Amino acid sequence: MCGIVGYTGQDKAAEILVSGLKRLEYRGYDSAGVALEDRGPDGDAVLDVIRRVGKVAGLESELAARHLPATCGIGHTRWATHGRPTQSNAHPHTSCDGRIAIAHNGIIENFAELREELASRGHVFKSETDTEVFAHLIEEAYEGSAAAGIPATHDLMAAVREACTHVVGAYGLAAVCVDEPGVIAVARKDSPIIIGRGERGSYVASDVIALIDATRDVVVLEDGQFARLAPEGITYTDDQGEQIEPAVTHIDWDVDMAEKGGYPDFMMKEIAEQPRVVRDTLVGRLAGTGELDIDELGLTFEELNLVDRVYVIACGTSYHAGLIAKNLIEGWARIPCEVEAASEFRYRNPIITPSTLVVAVSQSGETADTLAAIRDVRIKGAKVFGITNVVGSPVARESDGVIYTKANKEIAVASTKSFIGQVVSLTLLAMLLGQVKGKLPRGQTRMLFRELGDTAAQIQRILDTRAEAVGQAAAACKDAPSALFVGRGMGAAVSHEGALKLKEVSYLHAEAYAAGEMKHGPIALIDPGFPVIAVATRSAVYDKVVSNLKECEARGAKIIAVATEGDEDIKQIADHVIYIPEVRDAFSAITATVPLQLLAREVALLRGCDVDQPRNLAKSVTVE
Ligand code: F6R
Repeated sequence: MCGIVGYTGQDKAAEILVSGLKRLEYRGYDSAGVALEDRGPDGDAVLDVIRRVGKVAGLESELAARHLPATCGIGHTRWATHGRPTQSNAHPHTSCDGRIAIAHNGIIENFAELREELASRGHVFKSETDTEVFAHLIEEAYEGSAAAGIPATHDLMAAVREACTHVVGAYGLAAVCVDEPGVIAVARKDSPIIIGRGERGSYVASDVIALIDATRDVVVLEDGQFARLAPEGITYTDDQGEQIEPAVTHIDWDVDMAEKGGYPDFMMKEIAEQPRVVRDTLVGRLAGTGELDIDELGLTFEELNLVDRVYVIACGTSYHAGLIAKNLIEGWARIPCEVEAASEFRYRNPIITPSTLVVAVSQSGETADTLAAIRDVRIKGAKVFGITNVVGSPVARESDGVIYTKANKEIAVASTKSFIGQVVSLTLLAMLLGQVKGKLPRGQTRMLFRELGDTAAQIQRILDTRAEAVGQAAAACKDAPSALFVGRGMGAAVSHEGALKLKEVSYLHAEAYAAGEMKHGPIALIDPGFPVIAVATRSAVYDKVVSNLKECEARGAKIIAVATEGDEDIKQIADHVIYIPEVRDAFSAITATVPLQLLAREVALLRGCDVDQPRNLAKSVTVE
């Protein structure tokens, strides 16, 4: 949710900030803005605060026309939480006198009371946001406030530190002040902050992708740590103001990896990367002995053997990966497994014992509900195992063990390759639990592992051969007001992901139903031409799915089937068939999801939608 950037150095800040913000747009794109140090008409130091509603491109044009000379500034791209996406709610926000400006990512939970207190002391608010209180708190700490009993610090870093003591909530914060030219003060709690020092200046951002052109050696700021960036260097302090030396992390991925690589959009690039994701996620996971090797597990085999219940907690697409895992964990390890939306789970009182394993799945590793659920169950004594795509993310740090999906940076807001990485990782975990529980012999593990690896080539075959079939199916449902996705078993789980993908990128309403549930209500929706998208791959429940589809066909539905190569019978009821290679049912979710991702993208393009940045969404959901 929201991205922040800051630069101070020898180069023009406006261009650097805009290029960083463009890379952070996946975090939100309701509005964008910058605060740049400048000189007023009488030569006094001032801050130019320039904000535009909409994507960074609008801000970019404005800045290009103004040729601002500043070499220090901060920027923000917003996903609206408190306050509508208007210019006055756009960041940066300023203090009453306009001498301090801040960019903030996170949520201030006690903002209503802080706002009331600050207003009673004469502060005038210009926006509806929670963030603005931070600007006024820093102002009070900088200038001092007799009414609040706060002495003046006349030191931006100290003022930010003081302001943070009043705030309850999450923040990644960057602040500038006209009285301290070239200085950016940075604070972090529960929102990511990355800091780097390049040859020509110092940088801060919400994500390494915004500063990777300048440096590959970065500091991932921890909660409660602060940084003071200046053109000549960076100093780090703890919450008492004592200097610290945080660890430096070297980033070994390439900036090209984050670019489109010749594809028309990031979504297509990321779908096309999925064979690689499968292969990379499996590298080094099977020992010569036939045992699975997940050394970062953080749990001993003895501890795993005691597990008698698994909860998979996650949100959105990651939750759907959990639905697939349930089938595998119960099937191979015979351990009861429940899958729950983290946003529900955290407010329940689930039965947790020391032998409960909680598997938290999160691409970003910073989803607020998933994190809150992790914290809660750890207090209750559960072991937590994280599956995430982001090294060093809060989910990784707060879990007992972690599997990193090898998706690499995912830019398109709709998750595709991360989902495949999650499903492959959860499959490994299910196999491991099966081994530990003595239900899955090594020979069988080896065979399953090999077949799991084969899905990489099978996905590639779908990508290479099914574009035309997907295109025809997309044309058939692009003008429908709504669509239903159906399947049974693994197919039901995949249907949920297919429906989510379609609605989020094409804005076409879609729902998923277990095929057998259709006749209990949803079949009433079907009238001639209504699209029903079915996962009808060969499995033990294939015939059942087919008979459910016949019921839809009888009512005039337009049926689009994802079916197994060689299945000619399906053509008798389906108007369009997208064939996928035959795989074991346990792995069918991996292959069957791919045509549904392609279908969603194609429908979205036909409807003129932006597939990489769908409206109202953000890549990281750090608010509950
Ligand atoms: C949909 C999508 C979202 C995320 C959800 C959880 O394509 O990407 O539904 O899956 O917001 O995000 P993570 O996995 O980062 O916890």
